[in-house]
Amino acid sequence: MSQPLAELRHISKTFGGVHAIEDVDIDIFPGEVMGLLGHNGAGKSTLIKVLSGVYPPDHGEIRIAGQAVRIETTREAKALGVETIYQDLALAENLDAVANLFLGRERHTRFGFLDEEAMEHETRIMLDRMKLRLPSLRTEVSRLSGGQRQAIAIGRAVYFDAKIIIMDEPTAALGPEETEKVGELVRELKTHGLGIVLISHDIHDVFDLADRVTVLSHGRVVGTVRTSDTTKDEVLSMIILGRMPNGRDQPGTAIDPAS
Ligand SMILES: Nc1ncnc2c1ncn2[C@@H]1O[C@H](COP(=O)(O)OP(=O)(O)OP(=O)(O)O)[C@@H](O)[C@H]1O
Ligand SMILES: [Mg+2]
Repeated sequence: MSQPLAELRHISKTFGGVHAIEDVDIDIFPGEVMGLLGHNGAGKSTLIKVLSGVYPPDHGEIRIAGQAVRIETTREAKALGVETIYQDLALAENLDAVANLFLGRERHTRFGFLDEEAMEHETRIMLDRMKLRLPSLRTEVSRLSGGQRQAIAIGRAVYFDAKIIIMDEPTAALGPEETEKVGELVRELKTHGLGIVLISHDIHDVFDLADRVTVLSHGRVVGTVRTSDTTKDEVLSMIILGRMPNGRDQPGTAIDPAS
């Protein structure tokens, strides 16, 4: 059984009187794409914000590589290798790919100047590794496509040693071709042993890429299933009805992908 990159246990979070998530368990494994599905308001974003240090949970435990951790800020989450990519991507629009990759972590020459040459070289290696081509490394990112921007955000996470990449509705605003490109990137990251969490309210965004999916409804886990053991229709019925399909057990927590 492979060691999970992250284990979330009994996580609950309320906002005022609203139980955004209640007693949720999920595991994230290396080299695996985990889909998090559910209607609008099901609690998907809240759950991953607990893991990425945006909200402290009211209850529950998080283990990273087997160690119990407290994650109180996004900085702490990043230091533990958890990177989150939101739809707006948090890229600096008026800077180019190189500047965005090294934003806040710039390289300097021994004379204290920005080492543009080294940063450009590293950017090129990163883009090659991700099989990504940009018109120019020096184009402002505001002039790049959604898919290209997504790739830079992913590249930055990988370059700075992310172990887990969480993508919240990554393809919501992308066309079919760019969506396919993001899919290729996700498959590439998998081969490097990263754990990827793909979040969507739309099963079609997630099912084909995911190894497992967890469905949330009203803040609770409906079930976690391996995509190789199920069908889109079954998962769709979990999302719509908020329960496992007839004749199927509700798995307690995540299933080990290697078992
Ligand atoms: N900061 C907040 N303050 C108050 N309530 C919140 C906050 N964030 C989320 N909620 C509530 O918690 C519940 C879960 O919201 P969440 O954003 O996690 O859902 P989601 O599954 O990501 O939905 P979507 O698919 O629309 O992104 C909702 O009822 C929402 O209104
Ligand atoms: Mg959301």
